[in-house]
Amino acid sequence: MQLSHIIWLFFGVLLAYNLKLYMDSKVQYDIKIDGNSISINLQGKSIGNSGLEVACKQFQDFVNVTKLEANFNLNGLTNVQTLLLTISRFKRLQELNLQIGNNPIGNSTASNLQALLIQLQNLESLSLGLDTLFTHQGRSQIIKSISEMKKIHTLQISLINTDLGGNQIDMLLPIAEMRQLKSLELILMGSNLTAPSTKSLQTLLYKLPKLEHLVLNLYGNRILVDGVDDLSAGLYHQKQVKSLELELYFNNITSNGTETLMSVTGQMTNLTKLHLGLEFNYVEEEGAKHIAKALGNLQHLNDLSINLASKNFGYLGYEAVLQAIEKLPILDSLQLIIGINKCGTRGADLLKKVLFKQNKLKTLVLDYTENYIGDAGASFIGEGLTYQKALEYLKVTLNFNSISDRGAIDVAKSIHSLKHQPKYIDLRLSQNKISDIGSKEVLRYLSNVTKAVDFLELELLGTALTNATRDDLVETYKNLKNFNFIVDTAPPSYWDEQ
Ligand SMILES: *[C@@H]1O[C@H](CO)[C@@H](O)[C@H](O)[C@H]1NC(C)=O
Ligand SMILES: *[C@@H]1O[C@H](CO)[C@@H](O)[C@H](O)[C@H]1NC(C)=O
Ligand SMILES: *[C@@H]1O[C@H](CO)[C@@H](O)[C@H](O)[C@H]1NC(C)=O
Ligand SMILES: *[C@@H]1O[C@H](CO)[C@@H](O)[C@H](O)[C@H]1NC(C)=O
Ligand SMILES: *[C@@H]1O[C@H](CO)[C@@H](O)[C@H](O)[C@H]1NC(C)=O
Ligand SMILES: *[C@@H]1O[C@H](CO)[C@@H](O)[C@H](O)[C@H]1NC(C)=O
Ligand SMILES: *[C@@H]1O[C@H](CO)[C@@H](O)[C@H](O)[C@H]1NC(C)=O
Ligand SMILES: *[C@@H]1O[C@H](CO)[C@@H](O)[C@H](O)[C@H]1NC(C)=O
Repeated sequence: MQLSHIIWLFFGVLLAYNLKLYMDSKVQYDIKIDGNSISINLQGKSIGNSGLEVACKQFQDFVNVTKLEANFNLNGLTNVQTLLLTISRFKRLQELNLQIGNNPIGNSTASNLQALLIQLQNLESLSLGLDTLFTHQGRSQIIKSISEMKKIHTLQISLINTDLGGNQIDMLLPIAEMRQLKSLELILMGSNLTAPSTKSLQTLLYKLPKLEHLVLNLYGNRILVDGVDDLSAGLYHQKQVKSLELELYFNNITSNGTETLMSVTGQMTNLTKLHLGLEFNYVEEEGAKHIAKALGNLQHLNDLSINLASKNFGYLGYEAVLQAIEKLPILDSLQLIIGINKCGTRGADLLKKVLFKQNKLKTLVLDYTENYIGDAGASFIGEGLTYQKALEYLKVTLNFNSISDRGAIDVAKSIHSLKHQPKYIDLRLSQNKISDIGSKEVLRYLSNVTKAVDFLELELLGTALTNATRDDLVETYKNLKNFNFIVDTAPPSYWDEQ
């Protein structure tokens, strides 16, 4: 053999070896194997078909696996046969979470997927992500097969950005035959649903007597008041549900739709968890009062999330909702997303009173973006935080609120003085008028609690910091453990224009 050949062979092997190492390390990075449970998340990693083969090789021999979570969304995959074949060998699989959406997979693969599901006879929990995949007919056949899997009690189907317009949503109707279902999640974001589409959802909800956990994510469709009326008629048959999540962002349900929806929700008196996403729905003061009235009936709630952000109401609606929250007896998780309304300083003062009453929260998420609260409002919110006795997770977003040094320091000082230190803290004070002095103080207080937390993040974008101070602060705190500081500077002229 000639020397050049040997050298080339050597290089070729080295190249292949490195490539394999690279692929392996890239893939291995996200595979977790724990007993009979495998989890792999490669969403958006552009691994391509060859990367998928490598990934499959790593878990194909664990034939006794009972739980598999595999996220291959957005990877430029055209062929997933190896993956389907690998999974088909897992005869003991009870839980499968398979996300393969947003890949250019051929439409004929729908029948392979259907064949796989039919083989998985021990499956009890299925989460399937088919965002933008296959034809209507292909998807229908998959759902039909799923509906015949009688052991499944927990089902999630994701069809984000998948056209279900016209009567195509009827393909979900076979799910009504799954009388055994305890948990159903339908993720139908941006799926071209209109008011008539909700008739199918209504029919589904008539038929599932054992549901305890229900998630309907209809984010960014156009179901309007009529759609909400149909949906509510369906929910009327789901009063036994204990955990309800409704995401209706940007569906223009108005105050009338809110009234219907809330009159039914208020009858679901066994709810312990309620997540309501009503952002951008022209709920108005009247709608907010209906929400408040419903909350008044829900005495078992311990986990409440309300998103009423973006031009939904003014002070009166806000006041109604907050007073209802104040009266809930056993809340331990509260998420209040109220940005871009007009709550003002008065609204922040009211929140303080609510936090005085609800002082055993473990989780608190407050988003008061652009609510004209000013320094006084920031101080009220800070004071509200100091009443908390059990916080584990705290996230406070006060961006765009004309807060200057005084308000910012008050909030940081309050977090610093919490008697029960949360493990996770996220404070956002961007787009306010916080100067060099204020920023230094805020950081001095927050950096002091980093020893006691798992993670602390401070966001200070677009404030009145000078570059010198910014650079100084970044340098001072860059090596602090568990601390993430997000900062830039706004040119001074920005503030002259305000
Ligand atoms: C799977 O389980 C069977 C029977 O319990 C056992 O014989 C076999 O070795 C296991 N296989 C693996 C790869 O763990
Ligand atoms: C699947 O079929 C749809 C509708 O007929 C078509 O628009 C799409 O391009 C097809 N997808 C592939 C990957 O061939
Ligand atoms: C939405 O559904 C309608 C039928 O109701 C259909 O004509 C239209 O093409 C769909 N639009 C998109 C973007 O899928
Ligand atoms: C709530 O739960 C109780 C006890 O499990 C049950 O008797 C009652 O019927 C339930 N209420 C509704 C509205 O389903
Ligand atoms: C919302 O719906 C109402 C009627 O229900 C209509 O008058 C209004 O124009 C709609 N608004 C938007 C932004 O679509
Ligand atoms: C809301 O309902 C009231 C009374 O039922 C009705 O007069 C009004 O026109 C409705 N508004 C909208 C926008 O549908
Ligand atoms: C930070 O903590 C130290 C001791 O742990 C304490 O002496 C100091 O006063 C604290 N700083 C602030 C701003 O409270
Ligand atoms: C401050 O830093 C930014 C980039 O981080 C730069 O664009 C800007 O020109 C700097 N301002 C001054 C006054 O140096």
